[in-house]
Amino acid sequence: MEKKNIDWQNLGFGYVKTDKRFVSNFKDGAWDEGALVEDDTITISECAGVLQYAQTVFEGLKAYTTEKGQIVIFRPDLNAERLEASAKRLEMPVFPRDRFIDAVVKTVEANEAYVPPYGSGATLYIRPYMFGSSPVIGVKPAQEYQFRVFTTPVGPYFKGGAKPITIKVSDFDRAAPHGTGNIKAGLNYAMSLHAIVTAHEEGFDENMYLDAGTRTKVEETGGANFLFITKDGKVVTPKSDSILPSITRRSLVAVARDYLGLEVEEREVYFDEVKDFAECGLCGTAAVISPVGRINDHGNVINFPSGMDDMGPVTKKLYDTLTGIQMGRLDAPEGWIKVIK
Ligand SMILES: Cc1ncc(COP(=O)(O)O)c(C=O)c1O
Repeated sequence: MEKKNIDWQNLGFGYVKTDKRFVSNFKDGAWDEGALVEDDTITISECAGVLQYAQTVFEGLKAYTTEKGQIVIFRPDLNAERLEASAKRLEMPVFPRDRFIDAVVKTVEANEAYVPPYGSGATLYIRPYMFGSSPVIGVKPAQEYQFRVFTTPVGPYFKGGAKPITIKVSDFDRAAPHGTGNIKAGLNYAMSLHAIVTAHEEGFDENMYLDAGTRTKVEETGGANFLFITKDGKVVTPKSDSILPSITRRSLVAVARDYLGLEVEEREVYFDEVKDFAECGLCGTAAVISPVGRINDHGNVINFPSGMDDMGPVTKKLYDTLTGIQMGRLDAPEGWIKVIK
């Protein structure tokens, strides 16, 4: 298979159209067989549920080329499970988990020429999603849905090394108690746009959201969960019903315990404790871990001892171990790596 002539190292995180995408339609109470298609456009009613009432959920995962030259995906069963939870919360039909994995595999296979080579730092980002496609004018669920998977090659998240970022404590709330913060629904991201644009205008890289109920506990950022390291080397990560259950965070917790022998606490984390941590990182599919060097809470600045030059030492170990597993340099726990070819 000849790879596309792409400057992998200089790819950004943007949309690049690839050759094929998977499409399946839900009509009269059932999903059709689905197919790979070339058309990257969608024609739907002007009154489609997704356009009027934001009935859409999605996932994000990546295909990598390992050291041995295999194309693999990481824990797609957890993406399938999370899409199911997201769909149920928005009264959408569930796309069966085995069919989800099959659709992802087929789409990656069909776009093999776009899977970046090992060592380039680039990956093939995979976006499964689903939306209400039939007309709805009274507020209710649509009758018909479309499930799609497309892929797009994305560049190395960190060009020239992972530099710690500066984040701010947001004045906006991301998710309400008993709301939709724990699912991957487009609506959670629409309402975060003003907050992130504002943070960028103020010179910050990201927002730290606190719990909307009391504004005392750490939740997450707009696109990643938090990991903290205590001065005595424990891993602490916030537990909350209104954050997205990050697959990267859950994997890092297992890596910390089982590969690195670290103690892990998954619990409520009060913002007041944050100043006492030694390291801080944001975890998600995009970067695995982005180190945070500084947090600004309305002018009160927390500078982590790990500083603004490098990842903290424990964060680095976690990062190296998980990326080692993903890239096939380290043995993976049973079921974590699905080989595509
Ligand atoms: C709000 C939010 N939190 C956390 C994450 C990280 O989740 P994952 O590790 O499954 O990519 C994401 C990205 O998917 C996200 O959008």
